[in-house]
Amino acid sequence: MEMKSDHLDSLHWRGMATIKAVRGTRDLLPPDTNLWNHVEATARSVFARYGFGEIRTPIFEATELFARGVGEETDIVSKEMYTWEDRGRAESDRGQSLTLRPENTAGVVRSYIEHGMAETGMLEKLFYIGPQFRRERPQRGRYRQFWQIGAEVLGPPWSGSDSALRDAEVLEMLATLLNELGVKGWRLALNSVGSAEDRQRYSAALRDALAPVKDKMCPDNQRRAETNPLRVLDSKDPNDQEIIDGLPKIADFLSEDSRTHFEQVKAALDACGVAYAIEPRLVRGLDYYTRTTFEFTVPDGSGLGTQNALLGGGRYDGLSEMLGGPKTPGIGFAIGEDRLILTLRAQAAEQAAKKLDAFIAPMGVAQNPGALKLAQELRHAGLSVEVGDGSFRLRKSFDAADKLARKMIIFGEDEVTSGILTVKDFSKGEQEKIAREELAAALKN
Ligand code: HAM
Repeated sequence: MEMKSDHLDSLHWRGMATIKAVRGTRDLLPPDTNLWNHVEATARSVFARYGFGEIRTPIFEATELFARGVGEETDIVSKEMYTWEDRGRAESDRGQSLTLRPENTAGVVRSYIEHGMAETGMLEKLFYIGPQFRRERPQRGRYRQFWQIGAEVLGPPWSGSDSALRDAEVLEMLATLLNELGVKGWRLALNSVGSAEDRQRYSAALRDALAPVKDKMCPDNQRRAETNPLRVLDSKDPNDQEIIDGLPKIADFLSEDSRTHFEQVKAALDACGVAYAIEPRLVRGLDYYTRTTFEFTVPDGSGLGTQNALLGGGRYDGLSEMLGGPKTPGIGFAIGEDRLILTLRAQAAEQAAKKLDAFIAPMGVAQNPGALKLAQELRHAGLSVEVGDGSFRLRKSFDAADKLARKMIIFGEDEVTSGILTVKDFSKGEQEKIAREELAAALKN
């Protein structure tokens, strides 16, 4: 029997729950995707200028890659990975544990080893743009599927891959990219976690320092204190912060070589005028890091909620060997693209909502030329200023000023002769008298 299709439709739809995107994932739709494409095109153009080529690795890999590369004791591997046993249809098929990539550095290094890239003896500069997966608690700026724009510089030691110049070049490139995208107020936090041997000595010192106090810490930190004490340093548990603040600092455990390397990174950044702040506790949440580690953050109120790390990275001189490959020092980073987009949107909205520094209200047409002259002086002093018209009634000037500017300057005959101007501050609802010579400085506050 043939059913009419509209009858079929109503059977299908009536009473059925709709299907939604999975928690922690989201759709990117136009016109939003225009901004995503703009960010990616800008990144591609900057990467090309610094000699990077694109690499695309699979979205899933053998679980062991991350267990060995990122580290069993990290939050990523111990709690956040999407892992499953992949079996063929036949009973005899051997199952294999697979994982959606939580990050891309381990995959890039696997690929480097697999394709014998070391044999060219050259430095490889590779970038990638793509989704990563972590089963974290979703919140603003933190998703279960998120995008990273990342890059890695790696090669055999004789290619210069462990030179501090490479670290500084990567950081300078990031500063250039963020500036070209128009990200405002970014801050570079920098540290050195030393060589693998330095870290071992430091870990031993941390273990000793933690032994007498660890019972007072949260269960996660009690476990980490024994298995991987460095991870205690990234703990966000508020009750444990006092103990953590009192722990030994990595800087006191750096070998002469590591210290010199770090000094060289800083000197090259200074030469390029890239500002940074040294942050001794910045060890980062992945186990492969050696020597330089860094994060770029944006100020609170940049649209990221409590997540202020826009990107992170560092050196991983031993990662290739951990994955069974040849000695291949390397350094890289990954930008959280979702967070970069949130920041750009929030900063653009703030800019659009920003008011002018002052509105000058001439109190009669005769005051117009003088008012324009005052506007000229203030604009030359770097202030943003609008000027009204002497034919406006005071009420009209007031309304226009309130809409456009933070402050209104009343410019009448008395003000011109006395040189003392009346300035109304809309946010405070106050009025003050300011001498003309001091006006520009006062408006900057
Ligand atoms: P990561 O610090 O784990 O490093 O991640 C880098 C960036 O990815 C973070 O700073 C953040 O912006 C973003 N991100 C991380 N998790 C999420 C999430 N759940 N939702 C949204 N954004 C997130 C790495 O992944 C290293 N592979 C970086 C690297 C490359 N180191 C050396 N080379």
